[in-house]
Amino acid sequence: EKGGWPSFMKKEIAEEPDAVANTLRGRTHDGAVALPELDGVAEALSGINRVLVLGCGTAAYAGMVGKYAIEAWARIPVDVELSHEFRYRDPVLDEHTLVVSVSQSGETMDTLMAVRYAREQGARTLSICNTQGATIPRESDAVLYTHAGPEVAVASTKAFVAQVTALYLLGLHLATLRGTLDADAVAAQLTELEAVPTKIQRVVEASSARIAELAHWMSDTQSVLFLGRHVGFPVALEGALKLKELAYIHAEGFAAGELKHGPIALIEPGQIVFVVVPSPRDPSSLHKKVVSNIQEIRARGARVIAIAELGDVAVVPFADEVIRIPLAAPFFEPLLSVVPLHVFGMELATAKGLDVDQPRNLAKSVTVE
Ligand code: BG6
Repeated sequence: EKGGWPSFMKKEIAEEPDAVANTLRGRTHDGAVALPELDGVAEALSGINRVLVLGCGTAAYAGMVGKYAIEAWARIPVDVELSHEFRYRDPVLDEHTLVVSVSQSGETMDTLMAVRYAREQGARTLSICNTQGATIPRESDAVLYTHAGPEVAVASTKAFVAQVTALYLLGLHLATLRGTLDADAVAAQLTELEAVPTKIQRVVEASSARIAELAHWMSDTQSVLFLGRHVGFPVALEGALKLKELAYIHAEGFAAGELKHGPIALIEPGQIVFVVVPSPRDPSSLHKKVVSNIQEIRARGARVIAIAELGDVAVVPFADEVIRIPLAAPFFEPLLSVVPLHVFGMELATAKGLDVDQPRNLAKSVTVE
């Protein structure tokens, strides 16, 4: 029940901290990952040489975030594919492939059919699912449940952060099995992950009112672009998907590095662009590169709303608006930067007088192909 909230979506965004905390609960022990639900596939997991993550919509974007971390931690190749594309292209699979399906409902027909296909081809299947006893987990070799609680609003929000959390636990579990991270390194990542719920809470509290104002001003907007890089790229895709689903606005997410290969041609005066900015503390040069992308689009008249770390002063002169997220190690930033984008989609739809829980033409669980 809505319990006094104006919409399920608003309630579910407020539950994002709990979605992460509950997905972690009981699954860490003394700085190590504890996933007894994977004991039955322990042997299979030690024999895999690649991971293929499947999902649709938001679940696929969670998979994309997971790819960066699982590859980095477990040093195993990870691909992410949309379930409906995967099963119609004669993919190469064998018993050394771990197919990880991601689905909030566990009933999405495209993902179910993809899992069945993968099993028939001899792959090992692991399902990340939010619904106890759903069809996809029942048909998989193992299941890692997300504990986001029931998600009622059609567009997914809290399930996304729970799915990323589960993928991170899986990544750290694989890293432990494969010996690619030592115990201290695993413990350090888990400490970061355990700090995420409180940080999400701070993002919701600190940014929601300002985002609602921005959304109000932008209620006539026809098009919004989202740029991100590295783990910020799937966050950009997710931000764009929320605007399409909830506010019926043409929105696209791009990898910031792709800007000069096409999307920059879209920039004209007044174009609103959200930019997910990597941390300036990251040793890679991505922060500098994204800030220079911001300068390029600003020079062409874009109105830039940056999602940037607290204390990142370098973006300030170039952005029209800066939404702040708390400091986190790079892999944990998407769990924070996605939250203002969820809030923005909801607020823009609300400003347009739309039903945020039941957008037109969409269903919560698509059980047809
Ligand atoms: C779509 C929903 O129909 O299915 C999306 O509108 C969701 O919000 C997608 O991300 C996948 O659903 P599921 O249940 O497989 O995670």
